[in-house]
Amino acid sequence: MRTIAHLSDLHFGRHDDQVAEALLADASLKTADLAVVTGDLTQRGRIHQFEAARSFLDRLGKPVLVVPGNHDIPLYNLIQRFVGRLARYQRFITGDLHPFIDDGEIAVLGLNTARSAAIANGRISKEQAHAMVAAFADVPADRTRIVAAHHPLLAPKGTASTLIGRAVLAREALSGAGVHIVLGGHHHHAFSAASAPDSVDVRREVLVIQAGTAISRRLRGETNSYNLLQIAPNRATCAIRLWNGADFETRETSVFVFVDGKWVRS
Ligand SMILES: [Fe+2]
Ligand SMILES: [Fe+2]
Repeated sequence: MRTIAHLSDLHFGRHDDQVAEALLADASLKTADLAVVTGDLTQRGRIHQFEAARSFLDRLGKPVLVVPGNHDIPLYNLIQRFVGRLARYQRFITGDLHPFIDDGEIAVLGLNTARSAAIANGRISKEQAHAMVAAFADVPADRTRIVAAHHPLLAPKGTASTLIGRAVLAREALSGAGVHIVLGGHHHHAFSAASAPDSVDVRREVLVIQAGTAISRRLRGETNSYNLLQIAPNRATCAIRLWNGADFETRETSVFVFVDGKWVRS
């Protein structure tokens, strides 16, 4: 079994220092083998915001897999035009826009869906779709396959997620790659649910786990939170740990079992 701390939407520059310190001190978070951060590390992509985010990641004291969000692309900046939209992200956070970790139990691929302020809902390219399938091609069948992206790749029934551009392409790639679980952020809304097959050729369900905003003041009717995930073969437990004003506490735990291609809430 592996434990993942799924953090998202830190928004350094518009963050709450007290919440950030409490998160770093959270005993449950310390139990995680890996932290996955699904984007929007900064509020405006400024250098001091990336420096603060870098320091925060270092203080987690564990392996971290990170993907960028739309807020990590600076607005109206010459760097964006001439050096690259994610130059600062790559300088301070990681040069690898598609990180991949396979630790023998879980295989996690990060996907960069951030494009520009004009494409706030993100996008996947054909190259990324092919790369996703290729990344998991040699991963043994008994390993739990996870994709982490800032923007929602799938919208389970009953949820109101706005999907990325070329969402059909993303669904097909997730199916082709045999992905079990997708981690996302962006909407600052925490939930976990199985995405049912639809008219597209999706042979099996994918468990969609969205994280709220861990430490930012950009709250959208929901307090700060992060997800603590326990991943075992064909089984996933998602505990949403909410900020209560003093520390983080588990309010909601969902257990899913993967049976015959479907994620069943148990
Ligand atoms: Fe955000
Ligand atoms: Fe975002």
